[in-house]
Amino acid sequence: MCIEMFRTRIMLFGTAFVVWLCCSHLFGGADGQVTDPVEVTALHTFKQSLIDPNQNLSNWNRGDPCMSNWTGVLCFNMIMDDGYLHVEELLLQNMNLSGSLSPELHRLSYMKRLNVMWNKISGNIPKEIGNITSLILLLLSGNQLTGSLPEEIGYLPNLDRIQIDENQISGPIPKSFANLNKTMHFHMNNNSISGQIPPELSSLPELVHLLLDNNNLSGYLPPELANMPKLQIVQLDNNHFDGATIPATYGNMPHLTKFDLSNNNLNGTFPGIFSGLPQLQRLALANNSLSGSIPSNIWENRTSNGTKRLIVDLQNNMLSNISGSYNLPPNVTVRLQGNPICLNTNLVQFCGSQNENDSNIQSSTNSNVACFVQSCPPPYEYVPSSLVPCFCAVPLIVDYRLKSPGFSDFRPYTNLFEEYLTSRLELKAYQLDIATTPMWETGHRLGMYLKIFPVYIDNTHHLFNSSEVLRIRGLFTRWEIRDLKIFGPYEVLNFILLDPYKDADLSSSKSGISKVALIGIALGTIAGAVTLSAIVSHLILRLNTRKRHTSSRRHLCEYLTVTIICGGSKIYHDSPLFSS
Ligand SMILES: *[C@@H]1O[C@H](CO)[C@@H](O)[C@H](O)[C@H]1NC(C)=O
Ligand SMILES: *[C@@H]1O[C@H](CO)[C@@H](O)[C@H](O)[C@H]1NC(C)=O
Ligand SMILES: *[C@@H]1O[C@H](CO)[C@@H](O)[C@H](O)[C@H]1NC(C)=O
Ligand SMILES: *[C@@H]1O[C@H](CO)[C@@H](O)[C@H](O)[C@H]1NC(C)=O
Ligand SMILES: *[C@@H]1O[C@H](CO)[C@@H](O)[C@H](O)[C@H]1NC(C)=O
Ligand SMILES: *[C@@H]1O[C@H](CO)[C@@H](O)[C@H](O)[C@H]1NC(C)=O
Ligand SMILES: *[C@@H]1O[C@H](CO)[C@@H](O)[C@H](O)[C@H]1NC(C)=O
Ligand SMILES: *[C@@H]1O[C@H](CO)[C@@H](O)[C@H](O)[C@H]1NC(C)=O
Ligand SMILES: *[C@@H]1O[C@H](CO)[C@@H](O)[C@H](O)[C@H]1NC(C)=O
Ligand SMILES: *[C@@H]1O[C@H](CO)[C@@H](O)[C@H](O)[C@H]1NC(C)=O
Ligand SMILES: *[C@@H]1O[C@H](CO)[C@@H](O)[C@H](O)[C@H]1NC(C)=O
Ligand SMILES: *[C@@H]1O[C@H](CO)[C@@H](O)[C@H](O)[C@H]1NC(C)=O
Repeated sequence: MCIEMFRTRIMLFGTAFVVWLCCSHLFGGADGQVTDPVEVTALHTFKQSLIDPNQNLSNWNRGDPCMSNWTGVLCFNMIMDDGYLHVEELLLQNMNLSGSLSPELHRLSYMKRLNVMWNKISGNIPKEIGNITSLILLLLSGNQLTGSLPEEIGYLPNLDRIQIDENQISGPIPKSFANLNKTMHFHMNNNSISGQIPPELSSLPELVHLLLDNNNLSGYLPPELANMPKLQIVQLDNNHFDGATIPATYGNMPHLTKFDLSNNNLNGTFPGIFSGLPQLQRLALANNSLSGSIPSNIWENRTSNGTKRLIVDLQNNMLSNISGSYNLPPNVTVRLQGNPICLNTNLVQFCGSQNENDSNIQSSTNSNVACFVQSCPPPYEYVPSSLVPCFCAVPLIVDYRLKSPGFSDFRPYTNLFEEYLTSRLELKAYQLDIATTPMWETGHRLGMYLKIFPVYIDNTHHLFNSSEVLRIRGLFTRWEIRDLKIFGPYEVLNFILLDPYKDADLSSSKSGISKVALIGIALGTIAGAVTLSAIVSHLILRLNTRKRHTSSRRHLCEYLTVTIICGGSKIYHDSPLFSS
C-alpha cells in the first residue's frame, strides 16, 4: 500500500520539485544564481566598502542581483553566451553613500554605465576601472574623491563621457587621456587638478566639452587644443594659467560657443583673434591682467545673425580703449567694469552696472481659460498644449538638468529643445511641457521640471499605461536619450510618479529582464530539474527498498516526503499537496 502511495507521491513531488526549482531560479532563491557569480561577489565586495546610511542598498543581500530587483543594479536583457546575466549599469545616484569605491568594480566587466553621482564617497578612483573596457559613462560627479586620475582610464576604448566634477581630485591630467578617441565630454571642473594641460589632448577627435574650470592648473595654454575639430565649450576659468598671450589658434574653432578663461593670471595685450568665431555666445576673460585695446571686430558683424546672444565679459583687467566701432549690435553685451577704459564716463553701455544677467524668463503659454478647474482635480491637470481643448490627464514629472548646454540664453533654443526631446522620446509635441522656468544653477547648469502627458485617445483616457511609463522612464534613467551637441548631456535628478502611477507594476524595469529571457531561463531550468527529479526519485526508491525492515513503512513515507525531496525547505510543508 505504501509503495503505491509512494509512487503517486513521487510523481507529485517530481512535479513539485520542478516547480520549486523554477520558482527559486526565477524569483531569486538562494540557489537561483543566474547573474555571473564573479559579478555577484564583486557587488558584495563593492557594497561592503560603502557606507549606506539610508539602507538604500538593503536588498543587496537577498537573492540574485539581476533577478531580485537589487536597487540600482540594471542588467542586460539577455543571457550571454557564457550562460549568465551580466550587470549593465550601476545607478546609485543621490543616496548619501559614503565609504570608498572598491577596486573589485572591474569584475563587472560588461558594465556600460557607472553612476554614483552626488554621494559622499571618498578615497581614490580605483585604477582597475580602466579594465572595464565596455564602459561608456563614468559618472562620479559630486563626491569627495581624492588622489589623482588613474592613467588606466585613458585606455577605455568606448568611454563617451568622464564626469568627475566636484570632487577633490588632485595631480595632473594623464597624457594617456589622449587615447580616448570616442570621448565627447571631459567634465572635470571643481577639483584640485594641477599641472599643465597635456598638448597631446589635441588629438581627441570627438571632444565637445572641455570643462576644467575651478582647478589648480597652471602653465601656458597649449595652442594645439584648437586642433580638436568638434570642440564647443572650453572652460578653463579659476585656474593659474599664466603667460602673455592666448594662442592665436583659438580664434579658429568653428564650433566654439563658450570660452572662459576668467580668474587666471594672463597678462600681455588683448588678442585680436576673436572675430572668426561664428557660434560664440560667451567670451569671458574677466579677472586677468590683460592690457591694451579691445578690437571691435568681436561684435561688429553679429547683426547679420542676430538671434544668438553674445556676452563678452572682460571685467577687472587693464584694458584702456576700444579700437573700431563703439556701436553694439542688439543682443551683444560687453562688460568692461574694472578696466581703466571705464574712467571715461561716456561708455555707459560698456561700463554700466551689470543689469543684463544670464538667467532668462521662459514665458509659459497656458490658454486653458475655458476649462472648468473642478473637472480636472489634482493630480490631474489640463494638458497645456493639447490640440483638443480641456484634455485632462496626469503627467509624468521629470526633474531634469542640462549639465553644460552650449548657450547662455535658453529662449532662442526653446523650440529646438522641445523638438529634440519629443522626437527622441517618440512623443507628440503637445505631450511635453516645460513646467518651470529653466533656472541657471552654479556651474552653468540649466535645471527645469518637465511634464510629459499621455497621448489623447478619447475623453476616457487620462493616464499612461504602465508599459509606456516604463518606456519613458527607461529612456531617461538609462541615458538612452542621445545628446544633441548644443544641449549636451543631461541629468535626471528625479522621476516623479504621481499617485495614479504609483501602483503600476514597474518592478520589471529594475532587473530589466524581459519575458523572453525569463522563458529562456525557465526552459533551461525545467530541463535541468526534470533530470534532477528523475535521479532523486530513483534514489528514493532504492533507499526505500533497503530500509524496508528498519522502520514502519508509513513512517518512512512521511520522512522521505518531507526531508529528502524538499531538501529541508519548508516551502511545501503546509501545501495541500502534502496533506494526505
Ligand atoms: C534612499 O533612501 C531614503 C530613505 O529611505 C529615501 O528617502 C531616498 O529616496 C532613497 N534614495 C534613492 C535614490 O533611492
Ligand atoms: C543626506 O545627508 C544629509 C546630511 O548628512 C542630510 O541632510 C540629507 O537629508 C540626507 N539625504 C537623504 C536623502 O537621506
Ligand atoms: C587589467 O589591465 C591590466 C593592464 O592595464 C592588466 O595587466 C590586468 O591583467 C587587467 N586585469 C584584469 C582582471 O583584466
Ligand atoms: C581609437 O583608438 C584605437 C586604439 O588606439 C584605434 O584602434 C581606433 O581605430 C581609434 N578609433 C578612431 C575612430 O580613431
Ligand atoms: C595648487 O598648486 C600649487 C603648486 O602649483 C600648490 O602649492 C597648492 O597647494 C595647490 N593648491 C591646491 C588647492 O591643491
Ligand atoms: C606675464 O607673466 C609672466 C609669467 O608669470 C611673467 O614672466 C611676465 O613678466 C609677465 N609679463 C608682464 C607684462 O607682466
Ligand atoms: C551667419 O549664419 C550663417 C548660417 O548660419 C553663417 O554661414 C554665417 O557665417 C554667419 N555669419 C556671421 C557673420 O556669423
Ligand atoms: C572677479 O573677481 C571678483 C572679486 O574677486 C569677483 O567678485 C567676480 O565674481 C570675479 N568675476 C568673475 C567673472 O569671475
Ligand atoms: C565684417 O563683414 C564685412 C562684410 O562682410 C567684412 O568685410 C569684414 O571683414 C567683417 N569683419 C570681421 C571682423 O569679420
Ligand atoms: C535678440 O534675441 C532674441 C531672443 O533671444 C530674439 O527674439 C531677437 O530677435 C534678437 N534681436 C535681434 C535684433 O536679433
Ligand atoms: C566650483 O567652485 C567654485 C569656487 O569654489 C564655486 O563658486 C562654484 O559654484 C563651483 N561650481 C560648482 C558647479 O559647484
Ligand atoms: C523593486 O525595488 C523597488 C525599489 O527598490 C521597490 O519600490 C519595488 O517594490 C521592488 N519590486 C519588487 C517586485 O520587489
